[in-house]
Amino acid sequence: MGTTPQEITELDAGGHPVLLGAAVLHTLEKQLQPLKGVMPLVLGDHNTLQHCLPELLAHVPSLRGAATIAVEPGEGAKSLEVCQVIWNHLLDLAADRQALLVTLGGGVVTDLGGFVAATYKRGIRSINVPTTLMGMVDAAIGGKTGIDLAGVKNLIGAFHPPLGVYVHVPFLRTLGKRELLNGLAEMLKHGLVADAEHFEQIANAALHDLDALAPLIQRSAAIKAAVVRDDPRESGLRKVLNFGHSIGHGIEAHAWEGQGRALLHGEAIAIGMVAEAWLSWRMELLDREQCDRIAEVLLKLYPAHHLESSDNHRILELMRNDKKNADGGFRFTLLNAIGSARYDVPVTAAQVQEALEYYRLLVRK
Ligand SMILES: NC(=O)c1ccc[n+]([C@@H]2O[C@H](COP(=O)([O-])OP(=O)(O)OC[C@H]3O[C@@H](n4cnc5c(N)ncnc54)[C@H](O)[C@@H]3O)[C@@H](O)[C@H]2O)c1
Ligand SMILES: [Zn+2]
Repeated sequence: MGTTPQEITELDAGGHPVLLGAAVLHTLEKQLQPLKGVMPLVLGDHNTLQHCLPELLAHVPSLRGAATIAVEPGEGAKSLEVCQVIWNHLLDLAADRQALLVTLGGGVVTDLGGFVAATYKRGIRSINVPTTLMGMVDAAIGGKTGIDLAGVKNLIGAFHPPLGVYVHVPFLRTLGKRELLNGLAEMLKHGLVADAEHFEQIANAALHDLDALAPLIQRSAAIKAAVVRDDPRESGLRKVLNFGHSIGHGIEAHAWEGQGRALLHGEAIAIGMVAEAWLSWRMELLDREQCDRIAEVLLKLYPAHHLESSDNHRILELMRNDKKNADGGFRFTLLNAIGSARYDVPVTAAQVQEALEYYRLLVRK
């Protein structure tokens, strides 16, 4: 990590850099100048093109002549049909292998755009400009790209690192509180698996204060970048980032099936983290005081999600479909302490049920 006089921090995420700081869009402009003659294209969704594109163009004149491609906001854009529309669009624009795709958006746009860039003419270059908190600390970093198929998230994808990720925190001004909390869940996870002080700082942060949030975003991006740098293909260490996600994914999928309000990913993994912190205690890895602290912080930030005991069976079934449990048993990432994780801990279905009961009773109180 290095800071230049322009107050730019550059993180090494293995296959690509992540740049942050007040002048980051200026740095992007400088990066684009040697690429003159290359056709830049900007992919966004209707919200990001409305809220963020004017500011991007104001700071990055090299993109002013760029063609823009807009998709509908939401997970639905991560589809083969939308890829086809974009591939055709690139063809109509006569984009060649030298073209550069700039993705301006949340995780949907960076996942989708990265995948289109990975596949169009066997791969063109891309640059990620995340506009959600989820994007800035997680989705835009690491080179994983993909789309959904047959209701399965991220079934089709490729590793395709961008040239760089440019994190401009002021883009978050127009993002709603629920979306901010969505990304904050991944930041809390970063603290839980790697940095106890970071966890407490986030727990005590004023969410609406972007100046206060900026250094925390930088720390979270640095944790994500360091983990993917050391394990770019998810063969080991990267699994620490799955904390909260085993039970969280089951709860997320279950909520989408139900009649009630669907949960955002971060809301579901916040529940997953409470349940998996309890499991960490149950397995005698984590002490009770820290387990209780985790529950206290998360329940204060995220709305209670009401579960019935009769939901456990279906949640377990959905967890079994999860690709991370390919060998039949569950393998969890659990905590040794706040700030320290271990992965591949075997967990039984009965223990998962107990953890779900613990959460259920906790929010009933
Ligand atoms: N590749 C990875 O490693 C990785 C990691 C985590 C998540 N993801 C993926 O990321 C996706 C979720 O990303 P997300 O949470 O950013 O959701 P998103 O991209 O759907 O964005 C959420 C909403 O916020 C809007 N929005 C974006 N920026 C805005 C801004 N600055 N102001 C106002 N509105 C804005 C969007 O239009 C959208 O409606 C999922 O598809 C998930 O699979 C990928
Ligand atoms: Zn996640």
